[in-house]
Amino acid sequence: MFGLPKRLTILPLFLLGLLAANATAQDPPSEESINYFRTNCASCHTIGGGRLTGPDLKGLAERKDREWLVKFLLDPKATLDAGDPYGQKLLSDARGVYMPPVAGMNKELANKLLNLIDAESALEKSKFSGFQISERPLTDLDIATGKALFNGQKALQEGGPACISCHTLSGLSGLGGGLLGPDLSGAYSRLEGRKALGAWLSSPPSVVMQPLYTNSPLDSEEVLALVAYLKATAGTGELEAESTSLEFTLAGIALAAGLMVLFDILWRKRFRSVRRTLLAQR
Ligand code: HEC
Ligand code: HEC
Repeated sequence: MFGLPKRLTILPLFLLGLLAANATAQDPPSEESINYFRTNCASCHTIGGGRLTGPDLKGLAERKDREWLVKFLLDPKATLDAGDPYGQKLLSDARGVYMPPVAGMNKELANKLLNLIDAESALEKSKFSGFQISERPLTDLDIATGKALFNGQKALQEGGPACISCHTLSGLSGLGGGLLGPDLSGAYSRLEGRKALGAWLSSPPSVVMQPLYTNSPLDSEEVLALVAYLKATAGTGELEAESTSLEFTLAGIALAAGLMVLFDILWRKRFRSVRRTLLAQR
């Protein structure tokens, strides 16, 4: 009974949809490109929230043509090294830091991301206007909280693993911290202070950390505390190893996991070649 009216309403909608898709080359940004930008770009770029390691991308289309930008995304270094004044200015504003090449980048993806940047630039407040880390002065309490979070004495709210299972800070000697990740003593200065380190931690662009913290992200207070701790300990080497059994266990687990992966890679080949040799002898 409802068959006819239903079809009548769906058909025009369908046609309208087709028309809209054809009329605008720019489809609304898909969930996919939004997620892609969040995990691969947002750690260095805001859209309307000021510069991090890379420039603020708001209004990008007004300052540079699409063709150049696509070329840049496909190969940042080669494009900058071509030496045009625009590229030279970007590079010197970034104090000589080159944007890393983006794995799997192609023309289509580049255009999708640039469409997304244009769409977000047109909004009053982009969802990429930056991770807003508080500007308030860091206190001793922040540092103590950061230390407890780092060491796993205080659990992370969303259940992410404690940093110490993979990281050490110089001064945490030997088994005081995990070895899978780099020593973080210099992270505060390397990642250029509170804002950039905060953005880094809020969505770590690390192949190892990303899967662990995407679904259990650090909240902004936790990020602030960890930043305070990393700042307080930056380069001082003053961190004492507090080899509680928990730290010891976590470091052990991380080490074991790392070794297992390594052994697997090293030995897989050997077993195969031994087997091949045995087979060949028959
Ligand atoms: C590790 C930091 C980093 C990451 C990650 C990063 N960029 Fe960049 N980006 C930079 C820097 C630095 C520059 C400035 C040019 C240079 O020095 O290489 C830049 C420049 C740009 C520009 C040109 C900006 C302008 O004002 O003309 C665009 C567009 C851009 N990046 C897009 C992206 C996109 C899209 C992603 C994710 C796929 C991304 N970037 C990931 C650091 C980064
Ligand atoms: C499962 C192991 C693991 C855990 C847990 C982990 N990290 Fe990492 N982290 C790494 C690895 C590995 C790297 C190096 C980047 C890469 O290769 O992916 C890294 C890199 C970093 C960097 C960048 C260092 C630099 O100088 O570029 C910072 C900052 C950092 N981690 C902070 C933290 C903090 C804070 C925590 C706790 C909330 C944490 N990490 C938890 C493995 C881990």
